[in-house]
Amino acid sequence: MLHHFAVLIFGAFAGSALGQLPLPSPPSLPPDASSGAQASSAGRVPNPQWSTLLGNSLYFYEAQRSGRLPSTKRVSWRNDSAVNDGSDVSLDLSGGYYDAGDYIKCTFPLSFTIMSACWGANDFGRGYDLANQTSYLDDMLRWGLDWLIKAHPSSDTLYVQVADANLDNAYWGGDLNIPSDRPSYQINSTNPGTDAAAGAAAAFAACSNIYANRSLGPSYSSPASLQNSSYAETLLSHAQQLYSFAVNASGGQQTYQTAVPAAGIAYASSGYGDDLAMAALMLAYATNSSTYHAEAQGYYKQYGLGGSNAVFNWDSKTPGVYVLFAQLAQAVPGLSGEFSQWQTESERYFDHIVNGQGTTKGGLLWYPGDSDDASLNPALNAAMLLTRYAPMASTPEKQASYLAAAQKQIDYALGNNPMSAPYVVGSNPNSPSNPHSAMASGGNNISEIDTSPPQEAYVLYGAVVGGPDNKDRFYDIRSDWPETEVALDYNAPLLTLAAMHVLNDSNDPFFTRLQPGAYDARRPGGQPCDHAFPCRSGLSNGAKIAIGVVVGVVGAALLGLIAYYFYNVHKARQYKTAY
Ligand SMILES: *[C@@H]1O[C@H](CO)[C@@H](O)[C@H](O)[C@H]1NC(C)=O
Ligand SMILES: *[C@@H]1O[C@H](CO)[C@@H](O)[C@H](O)[C@H]1NC(C)=O
Ligand SMILES: *[C@@H]1O[C@H](CO)[C@@H](O)[C@H](O)[C@H]1NC(C)=O
Ligand SMILES: *[C@@H]1O[C@H](CO)[C@@H](O)[C@H](O)[C@H]1NC(C)=O
Ligand SMILES: *[C@@H]1O[C@H](CO)[C@@H](O)[C@H](O)[C@H]1NC(C)=O
Ligand SMILES: *[C@@H]1O[C@H](CO)[C@@H](O)[C@H](O)[C@H]1NC(C)=O
Ligand SMILES: *[C@@H]1O[C@H](CO)[C@@H](O)[C@H](O)[C@H]1NC(C)=O
Ligand SMILES: *[C@@H]1O[C@H](CO)[C@@H](O)[C@H](O)[C@H]1NC(C)=O
Ligand SMILES: *[C@@H]1O[C@H](CO)[C@@H](O)[C@H](O)[C@H]1NC(C)=O
Repeated sequence: MLHHFAVLIFGAFAGSALGQLPLPSPPSLPPDASSGAQASSAGRVPNPQWSTLLGNSLYFYEAQRSGRLPSTKRVSWRNDSAVNDGSDVSLDLSGGYYDAGDYIKCTFPLSFTIMSACWGANDFGRGYDLANQTSYLDDMLRWGLDWLIKAHPSSDTLYVQVADANLDNAYWGGDLNIPSDRPSYQINSTNPGTDAAAGAAAAFAACSNIYANRSLGPSYSSPASLQNSSYAETLLSHAQQLYSFAVNASGGQQTYQTAVPAAGIAYASSGYGDDLAMAALMLAYATNSSTYHAEAQGYYKQYGLGGSNAVFNWDSKTPGVYVLFAQLAQAVPGLSGEFSQWQTESERYFDHIVNGQGTTKGGLLWYPGDSDDASLNPALNAAMLLTRYAPMASTPEKQASYLAAAQKQIDYALGNNPMSAPYVVGSNPNSPSNPHSAMASGGNNISEIDTSPPQEAYVLYGAVVGGPDNKDRFYDIRSDWPETEVALDYNAPLLTLAAMHVLNDSNDPFFTRLQPGAYDARRPGGQPCDHAFPCRSGLSNGAKIAIGVVVGVVGAALLGLIAYYFYNVHKARQYKTAY
């Protein structure tokens, strides 16, 4: 608490959106990547390198902002953009976040990201406080939540996407010339989307917990200090309405891309049982209601959520449901079922990760299919859940094995890998320098995505890139979206992991041991072999550039093709387990 007072008394404050925590002035900015190659005076908590990493991972979200940017903006190279979103439906749907390396806005993965961030900031919020990042957390959450509120203009209406994925993917350029044809897509009572509505409900409920300073008790949770009870109430009422909409829409229950096929291009959902269970559980936590809890248990049975070894991600919340059931059961025995049941289910899941799930030679957890694009995401989400669950483990041996497994994954992601590459942009001189991000690249010719400009124009500090291939190779090529794209949901587990390490880890993140040149010495030759660089058809990058030229000349007929070759990341992410 003391540091807040210190800032209040001695710091000046910049104006910010009404009602939120004041942002420091001068702002806290990411240091140059070279500082990530210097060991800090280790041996204390909070470790300054972990604090910086947490700050950088929040800064990434600021770079992803859509809409009119406030005077407090820290990302100097970003401009106001897409300020007319929603005009096609006479609403203001400006704001929110661009989804990934492109400029669409997608409610379903955004909701997952916000839910994950809020759950993490509820349990490990003191990490944000210690790192002096709580006002930026508040800023980041509100930029998403205030947009979700706009996207939910009436109880049974939720906008699930703004802009068409194929058209948007065909645009490669900065934020000043984003094509203005950006349709808004909704679900409603006659054309419902159970997963999208429940996913947004879970995000609102999880965030209402922090803003209300709700805690499962000091040994489970330490919400970040951004309390605001009226905002918490607003969030909770959106959560309850959206959950009722998900459950009781007159059109029944169905995946949201059934109602809005355009949303299936980027983020088709495989089912809604996991979303309903997560929403009901977060609401049970938020309201201490045994009714919601019983409904969550009902979905768990009805949709056969038990026994899964699936990844945790935007489309697959089941493993998180196990852990949240366990947390609630242990902390609020009166509300919830038996702790031992959820402990058994959770440990079955985590024991499989520790003993049964394959890894690359270099040690990265590997889920065939899910890991083929954005391989770090399953691994970091596993690390995040392992660390969160560890204190509830039934034996000290299991606890130690979960923490060790989690440490191995975060170390890998931060540079303890065969490439000596920390996969967070701008965190160390060996970090990726070609993230697949239209806005950061500075390029505007889709046919010259890798070469124009030769060096990426802006450093997208704090962005987690997709990750290496199954042989631990990482090519750092801008057009290679499976390895180099950035996305809102890719950063979500890093937020929580960094907050955990700020709280509990006096040692530096692994990357401080990596000196300049380490990655260049190991950079693989040749070309990747993945969904962006098809290996067997022999379609070289040159050939794809040729396709780009043809598109430029021939026009829209081939847009689908180029979208496939360059940007089909999210589509490919559909290879995932049901529920
Ligand atoms: C709480 O948040 C609401 C909504 O953003 C805002 O209007 C209000 O001023 C805030 N209250 C305080 C005490 O900061
Ligand atoms: C947070 O702010 C306080 C007060 O200004 C300062 O003493 C402390 O070193 C800061 N911590 C970090 C991690 O920046
Ligand atoms: C923002 O605008 C400036 C010109 O004012 C431009 O140089 C910069 O590239 C723009 N940023 C993006 C992401 O396009
Ligand atoms: C309900 O949603 C569907 C699918 O997006 C849309 O076609 C329809 O126009 C919407 N209904 C209303 C009344 O807006
Ligand atoms: C939040 O709750 C904790 C106890 O769980 C308490 O120590 C803290 O003072 C509360 N914060 C606020 C702002 O009320
Ligand atoms: C759904 O509708 C039923 C019947 O009206 C009602 O009892 C139930 O509370 C509703 N569920 C939710 C989550 O609103
Ligand atoms: C939550 O509900 C349980 C069971 O009804 C009760 O024992 C507990 O006191 C409640 N907690 C709060 C904070 O109201
Ligand atoms: C884009 O790049 C291609 C391939 O190098 C080139 O032929 C074309 O003229 C460029 N387009 C523009 C508008 O500069
Ligand atoms: C963090 O440290 C505290 C006290 O040392 C311990 O009780 C807690 O389990 C640790 N949390 C994690 C996530 O390791």
